[in-house]
Amino acid sequence: LKVFSGNAHRKLAKDICAYLDIPLGKCEVFKFSNDNTFVRILENIRQQDVFLVQPIAFPVNDHIMELLIMIDAAKRASAGRITAVIPYYAYARSDKKDQPRVPITARLVANLIETAGADRVLTLELHAGQIQGFFNVPLDELSAIPNLANHFNARNVKSNIVVVATDAGDAKRARNMANRLDAPIAIVEKVRIGNQERVEAATLIGDVRDRTAIIVDDEIGTGGTVIATADTLRNHGARDIYCYAAHPVLAGKATEILEKSTIKELVVTDSLPVPPAKMGTKTSVVSVA
Ligand code: R5P
Repeated sequence: LKVFSGNAHRKLAKDICAYLDIPLGKCEVFKFSNDNTFVRILENIRQQDVFLVQPIAFPVNDHIMELLIMIDAAKRASAGRITAVIPYYAYARSDKKDQPRVPITARLVANLIETAGADRVLTLELHAGQIQGFFNVPLDELSAIPNLANHFNARNVKSNIVVVATDAGDAKRARNMANRLDAPIAIVEKVRIGNQERVEAATLIGDVRDRTAIIVDDEIGTGGTVIATADTLRNHGARDIYCYAAHPVLAGKATEILEKSTIKELVVTDSLPVPPAKMGTKTSVVSVA
């Protein structure tokens, strides 16, 4: 078994190798001065079980291209099986044609990964489970919920908890967390406005008064969803509000916004690297390595 890393998140790849007690495979992945990406695998991988670790982190398009080229390099080096390990699958929100003349980019990226030669995909907490079906090769979607639930359980807050989904479509994720915390769920209906980046939380379903609320989401992008959800919870009498999310995308001013908010703690996984400048004082990272 050989594990290699692109440039998206070498720390995670190293941590996975430390867990497996194997060295990280040697390869170079860099750009020439003409902006062309180049990959060279520096060890023999003939007939080996090869895992390429590359979450689709910022800059998203560069990291997709790196992954595709790494897969191609592994295929041409006669790897026995190539697994693309993509802890964060970007473009996942482009998963349906919900307006005229728009693409389904999550499907396009899946096609590219398969065409490049991946035999299998390993991913974590997809935005929507249906994205699994965009791949014809076997795909395993791992869940971050056990790791996140263990983190909260370690606090020993035993009573008056409610787990909150930020959208009706996310109720299953919240239910999964709630089962592990022995808590009920609530749902805040989300309305996206304009270019889809502005969010308003509308109706609340469930009882949050005087409870410790744990918002669960797949990712923190701009932070708009979680802030709008927290406002609604606060207006309905929730006490402490925590946010547990799998993927710290933390786009734009998300960290600053969250720092100023009434959210007590933001807990994310290391599916994506969090640069020091984006690591807020309220942020904790749980490893999924
Ligand atoms: C979306 O529908 C997801 O489940 C997340 O709620 C969303 O991606 C978070 O994005 P933002 O932080 O930009 O509102």
